Amino acid sequence: MTLLDSLAAAVGPEHVIADASMRASYETDWTGRFTGRAVVAVRPRDTAEVAAVVRCCAEAGVAVCIQGGNTGLVGGSVPVDGSVLLSLARLDRVGEVDAVAGQVTVDAGVTLARLQKHVRPLGFDVGVDFAARESCTVGGMAATNAGGERVLRYGTMRAQVLGVEAVLADGTVVTRLHGLPKDNTGYDVVSLLVGAEGTLGVLTRLRIRLVPLLAVRTVALVAVDDTAAAVRLVQQARDALPSLEAAELFFADGVALVRRHTGLPAPFADEHPAYLLLECAGRDDPSENLLALLESSADVRDATVASDARGRHALWQYREAHTESINAEGVPVKLDVAVPLRALADCVAKLPSVIPTGRPILFGHVNEGNLHVNVLDARDDAHAVCDAVLRLVASYGGSISAEHGVGRAKQEWLGLSRSVEEIAMMRAIKTALDPRGLLNPGVLLPPE
Ligand code: FAD
Ligand code: MLT
Ligand code: ZN
Repeated sequence: MTLLDSLAAAVGPEHVIADASMRASYETDWTGRFTGRAVVAVRPRDTAEVAAVVRCCAEAGVAVCIQGGNTGLVGGSVPVDGSVLLSLARLDRVGEVDAVAGQVTVDAGVTLARLQKHVRPLGFDVGVDFAARESCTVGGMAATNAGGERVLRYGTMRAQVLGVEAVLADGTVVTRLHGLPKDNTGYDVVSLLVGAEGTLGVLTRLRIRLVPLLAVRTVALVAVDDTAAAVRLVQQARDALPSLEAAELFFADGVALVRRHTGLPAPFADEHPAYLLLECAGRDDPSENLLALLESSADVRDATVASDARGRHALWQYREAHTESINAEGVPVKLDVAVPLRALADCVAKLPSVIPTGRPILFGHVNEGNLHVNVLDARDDAHAVCDAVLRLVASYGGSISAEHGVGRAKQEWLGLSRSVEEIAMMRAIKTALDPRGLLNPGVLLPPE
């Protein structure tokens, strides 16, 4: 039997996509920067079928590249040439909400938006949220340990994932879905698989911690002079506002780009160098405290506040439309870095001078010192741009990947954020679980 025959037997021939034009959407990433050619794309429907696919590939010695919603931004979701692209899109069942525990078990291919719609009518919410919500999957979010806009309050995906079911490189199924908040019985395999970017196993089901649905919300868009002012304001907001949920930073050039691509009006009568978006959420109206903070701060140059859903959405658009507006200008070199918060202003000031070519647009999640560095018109010099930015970040003791992962885009620079000993430990784990390197080759770990 050929590999294609055994895959067809595992998932049904209609879910083995060999036709090049039908494979195309699986073979290029969201940004258009990364591509690869798979032998086939395979779409299993449950854990047993995923295990069967992985076993077929292991027997044939063919690499398996894993894909959820294909919204990842570091090239980890596209196949390497000659591999089997394993799509989790058909694993889309959502379990009943366990209201007593405040948890739910879902398939890896369930999108974030679908999970939100499932739990919100029951008074629950998901702790992680970001602009790719309609397409990104819970499995992909866990695999990348996604962060987003609420990390300040609820942490990253690692804090939300209480259990997983996964298929290992030889087809073995590991299930740990009890969701016990306390369970000190050995190595934490759940935490190990979360953030492993699909290099240690295929996540097929996840037990997710839910947070209370906080429906009373206020968003403020605040004009400030610079990054230092934004950091000061966030520090004050953290102290004064227990309901603080998001603190997002962006700049005049980003707003101009967003306005050009969305047609949004200018947020204020005057243009300002930097903007901070704050969101508070609670059971009681948080707007009074937020307004009091803005009125007392010497750093606020102008501000606009919205509490109704439409007004809040309009203000969020200035921030969330950055990614698509940048991509509408051309394929960017995207970097996602973090520096200690005390160094953020200095880093923002220095970045343009170290970037050798192109048009940098910066924005980010300010409380985590997390900057998204997007460089337009620099695709041909991507290596030099990455090298310059990542070395600057490392000089502050920062991270070359705050939330998107290392993927194929940044594995060469892993040593700037991790020690030789740590990388050796990671390799030992990879070798123990996937000795032939069949799962997501080229992702995360640089070649030896
Ligand atoms: P994919 O892109 O398909 O895959 C991402 C990685 O995970 C790949 O390495 C893939 O092999 C692996 N993987 C996917 N599914 C599985 C699985 N079931 N088992 C094992 N490995 C798997 N990220 C943030 O952290 N914060 C943000 O604020 C944020 N905003 C974004 C906004 C936009 C508009 C876009 C396009 C992306 C944004 N992202 C953000 C990027 C983010 O990494 C992804 O959106 C999301 O986490 C990836 O989910 P996905 O299902 O699309 O995964
Ligand atoms: C975001 O915060 O919007 C993202 O992580 C996406 C990006 O970096 O473009
Ligand atoms: Zn982000």
